[in-house]
Amino acid sequence: MMKISIIGAGYVGLTTGVAFAEHDFNVVCVDKIKKKVENLNMGIPPFYEQGLNRMLKKLVNKGLIKGSTELEKNVKNSDVSFICVGTPSLPDGSIGLEYVKDAAKEIGKALKEKKDYHLVVVKSTVIPLTTEKIVLPLIEKYSKKKIGKKFGVCMNPEFLREGNALNDALHPDRIVVGEYDKKSGDTLMKLYKNFKCRKMRTNLRTAEMIKYASNSFLATKISYANEMANICEKFGVDVYDVMKGVGLDKRIAPYFLNAGCGFGGSCFKKDISAIVAASKSKKYKPKLLEKVLDMNETQPFQLIRMAESVLGNLKNKKIALLGLSFKPDTDDVRETRALLIAKKLLKKGVKIVAYDPKAMENFKNLINGIDYAKNAKDALKDADACIIQSDWKEFKELKTEDFKRMRKQIVVDGRRTFEPEILLRNGIIYRGIGWRNENSQHKK
Ligand SMILES: NC(=O)c1ccc[n+]([C@@H]2O[C@H](COP(=O)([O-])OP(=O)(O)OC[C@H]3O[C@@H](n4cnc5c(N)ncnc54)[C@H](O)[C@@H]3O)[C@@H](O)[C@H]2O)c1
Repeated sequence: MMKISIIGAGYVGLTTGVAFAEHDFNVVCVDKIKKKVENLNMGIPPFYEQGLNRMLKKLVNKGLIKGSTELEKNVKNSDVSFICVGTPSLPDGSIGLEYVKDAAKEIGKALKEKKDYHLVVVKSTVIPLTTEKIVLPLIEKYSKKKIGKKFGVCMNPEFLREGNALNDALHPDRIVVGEYDKKSGDTLMKLYKNFKCRKMRTNLRTAEMIKYASNSFLATKISYANEMANICEKFGVDVYDVMKGVGLDKRIAPYFLNAGCGFGGSCFKKDISAIVAASKSKKYKPKLLEKVLDMNETQPFQLIRMAESVLGNLKNKKIALLGLSFKPDTDDVRETRALLIAKKLLKKGVKIVAYDPKAMENFKNLINGIDYAKNAKDALKDADACIIQSDWKEFKELKTEDFKRMRKQIVVDGRRTFEPEILLRNGIIYRGIGWRNENSQHKK
């Protein structure tokens, strides 16, 4: 049984590690952050993800997965190393490769002393050519070995969705293996032998591009649905009905057509900015992708416009902001639209009472000047309006009586959390992305 070392125990590294450990591989997750590693060894994940806690504890107790801060030793003692470190945006939007380069250098140093064949797999999202032109030469330089006989390289993009990360890692839709040579690819395919899904083998740069092309498409689909929502509102048409009809077309499919207040998270904006910057460096300006990003920066403010359309000037108004993570079932606040909304509301002199089931601690690190409630119902108390930024189940379960605690019963829904007609029937004023809003008279 091959032994696996994973460099970077974040969302991708840890869930990948857990998935392999669940398939009975011995996994060591290496991270620079000591506290993360100590917690991991007690079975505590560094972030919230459904089911992860329990599975990690079980696998730690079985001795199948552990954390360590020692990269060299663990790479040497394993057969395959996955690079799962962050690739953050630089100020100009281009990809930051410093962590990937460091990891490649350190792996190279570790391989210098190793006798047996070793496979290095890049799982971090990287711009096409990064694996062959940056990672591979660094490993060769620091290991003083030539790629081929002594070590191999693969690029294996990760497609997991936060909020469903464990399930996605255990049961992926597809596995893409970009390989330097056949031996590298064969070795990685052995690790994935018992993962039942479609598998595609290709070269390194195509695998890298598949990740960018996938994220670009998904983000485009969202910005498209949001654009349609804004147009639908003008005509008194419900965009959710429209997208239901659109999604019946086999060529389109019904997924990812939910209009809302924009996409957040660590990947879409970062990856699209990176591929835009990389394309520009090759003298191509990707107009469509630039617009996808622009659209996403203004979409959250639709909610503020809707609140103003009912309340007028928002100064000194109390607004309950529900949902702070970028989507439900995660505590990740990276690029959350809640931050843009909160900043704008504060500028307008609004008193914000915020609530999120998991993400309040992380959100507190991003912004000051907000009060927090202990649950959604409490946040609603005496509020002039409530803005819903992410549709956690807890919000969906709010009852009409809960809205009666508000000073003014106004719901501004960024994610179609509620069935508008039900709230309206109960005397609650409803405004929402892609809903008919003031144009309800066009209903027929
Ligand atoms: N988060 C997602 O949903 C997701 C999905 C698909 C792909 N990706 C991609 O995967 C990569 C990782 O993303 P993430 O969200 O897991 O990042 P993350 O920031 O959660 O985790 C990265 C970890 O790597 C550690 N690290 C950095 N350099 C290190 C080194 N030299 N040695 C040991 N540890 C090191 C950091 O301490 C951190 O814990 C990125 O390229 C991202 O674009 C992320």
